[in-house]
Amino acid sequence: MANVGTIGTSAITKTFLQACIASCAFKITHVFSRTPEKAQALIDDLFIPDARADRELEAMLASTDVDIIYVASPNSLHFQHVKAALAHGKSVIVEKPAFVSPAEYQAIDEILKKNPGLHVIEGARHLYDANYLAASERVRAYDEVTGATLTYMKYSSRYDDFKAGKNPNIFSPKFAGGALYDLGVYLVYAAVDWFGMPKQANYAATKAENGIDLHGLARLHYDKFDVALIFGKDQQSFLPSEVYAHTHTLWLDNLGMPAKVRAYDGPAVFQDLSQHTAENPLVDEVNAFSLMFTNRDDAQFEQRWQLTGQVNCVLDQLRASAGIEFESGQD
Ligand SMILES: NC(=O)c1ccc[n+]([C@@H]2O[C@H](COP(=O)([O-])OP(=O)(O)OC[C@H]3O[C@@H](n4cnc5c(N)ncnc54)[C@H](OP(=O)(O)O)[C@@H]3O)[C@@H](O)[C@H]2O)c1
Repeated sequence: MANVGTIGTSAITKTFLQACIASCAFKITHVFSRTPEKAQALIDDLFIPDARADRELEAMLASTDVDIIYVASPNSLHFQHVKAALAHGKSVIVEKPAFVSPAEYQAIDEILKKNPGLHVIEGARHLYDANYLAASERVRAYDEVTGATLTYMKYSSRYDDFKAGKNPNIFSPKFAGGALYDLGVYLVYAAVDWFGMPKQANYAATKAENGIDLHGLARLHYDKFDVALIFGKDQQSFLPSEVYAHTHTLWLDNLGMPAKVRAYDGPAVFQDLSQHTAENPLVDEVNAFSLMFTNRDDAQFEQRWQLTGQVNCVLDQLRASAGIEFESGQD
């Protein structure tokens, strides 16, 4: 079992640690925080007495009992954290979106090419979800896709803080926040995974005064069809997502966290493709990553890494088309 050290102590790190514990996929040996009490609190709360709370990132990265670093820092810090981990000979699981610009992806790609034993994999959790996989199987079986509408819009618990002027990272250009890079990324991932790279990508964003996008509509143009993406963080949507193939429709209740999947072969009759999924949304992903590391599945790592690069590229095109500027990134 590979040993894991973590960066970031917010809710997603806790969920990741719980997924590791529940699945016995990875052994947690280190938890890093700029405030070591927060790391120790996580260790105590989840009862992982063998793990060490690190106050210095360098100390964790230099430790011999860590193989993989899980990066769950704000988006704009992923690049420096991934680069530092690789420099210490550690592979990386990095939260979505892995990188903020193609230049960041290229720089890490060059490091990986010089270090074939190391891997970077992006935590695009929905891709490993049993319901997403059931939907994917059906989408790939369609003779001719004719379009898709993909949605993910959730009122963020941090939007109230943002309105109150507290400047949370996820609504900040400094930390590469905003709707596209936080929730739109799930939709871009599905589109690129199912249909490949679009010919054109455009995004009409509704922005806040600081320039980040609160919600918007994006269009991915393919040779013979278009994909509409609807996403946002300042309002709540209950719209499902759909993929069209003439008389066939693949329907998901929530692409970001699918619980119900249906295949319609006409107007009223549908086949229920829904699968049972774990309560913890990271368990499927953690199990998949653990298998990849255990089996040294280079082909799977490479395929995922290429997908990360393609998604990064489409996000960048969408961001450019909407004139969204971040204060960071190797642009
Ligand atoms: N896969 C999913 O379902 C999912 C869900 C939520 C978020 N995410 C991703 O997880 C990442 C973290 O998101 P989040 O909303 O949890 O971010 P966040 O709360 O803004 O920050 C995450 C952690 O990073 C550290 N941090 C915060 N600001 C920092 C700074 N200025 N410098 C250095 N470290 C800093 C903090 O840990 P310490 O104070 O302990 O150092 C914090 O707990 C993002 O990439 C996000 O997209 C994924």
